[in-house]
Amino acid sequence: MLLLEEHVYAGMRNNMRLDKFLAEAAVGTRKIVRDYVEEGKVTVNHREIMEPASEIDEKSDVVRYLGKEIIYTGKIYYMFHKPRGCITARKDAINPTVLDYFDVNKTNGLFPVGRLDKDTEGLLLLTNDGEFSHKLMHPDKHVEKTYFFWAFGSLDFDAREYLKMGISIGDDEVLAKATKVEVTDEGNYQELKSKMESDKVKDIRINPYRQSVVSGYLTISEGRKHQVKRMLKAVGCYVVYLKRVSIAGLMLDDSLKEGQYRELTEEEIRSLYI
Ligand code: URA
Repeated sequence: MLLLEEHVYAGMRNNMRLDKFLAEAAVGTRKIVRDYVEEGKVTVNHREIMEPASEIDEKSDVVRYLGKEIIYTGKIYYMFHKPRGCITARKDAINPTVLDYFDVNKTNGLFPVGRLDKDTEGLLLLTNDGEFSHKLMHPDKHVEKTYFFWAFGSLDFDAREYLKMGISIGDDEVLAKATKVEVTDEGNYQELKSKMESDKVKDIRINPYRQSVVSGYLTISEGRKHQVKRMLKAVGCYVVYLKRVSIAGLMLDDSLKEGQYRELTEEEIRSLYI
């Protein structure tokens, strides 16, 4: 009778393998956490469990690693408005990182999906779901990312065509292509200065007067280092401001100020799980 009750109860539990639970809670990789379990470092409801494949109820069982309770957060997905000046990494000895903007209780296992340069702001996704990140980042998926830029220089018809046909941005690399190029403003610095300032373009280190400036959107479906800056440089434009505004059709939420984040909705997660 007791066995039957246990069996019925087990059917109602949120079952999950212990090693999967520990890995998803960022205690270590799947392999490392298996060793921890076999070494007797993990308890479930105060009992030492030595079998990594044991099933636990991730919502109600109390799991401890070396005596410290491990809280299950499940899969988490955030949209973050990355400010300029922080590094897209989990840790950095000198600069603030994107994780410094998150509540410490929410950073368990959280990592950025791809990266933005230190001086680039805009849409950055963070998650603890490795599969989600892998899918979005895989070059074969050709996920489109759109950037808004201000640059010194001009983008005439030919330059825009070059960007779309493919342009060399390094000695031995294949050509880098834009899937879309749109110019929103073009003129000289004097004329566009106040518009640039309202878009937060500041700290210009070259003498800007009498120079041409251009703003617009560039969409790419690759992810090479400094790609947008290098592509625009290849057509004679020097980027002074760069902001990622969308990834795979998901727009940066206007209500998020720099440094703010929110959870993705289920619909947004589904649309990105390609
Ligand atoms: N391209 C760049 O040049 N920088 C970024 O941060 C992202 C894309």
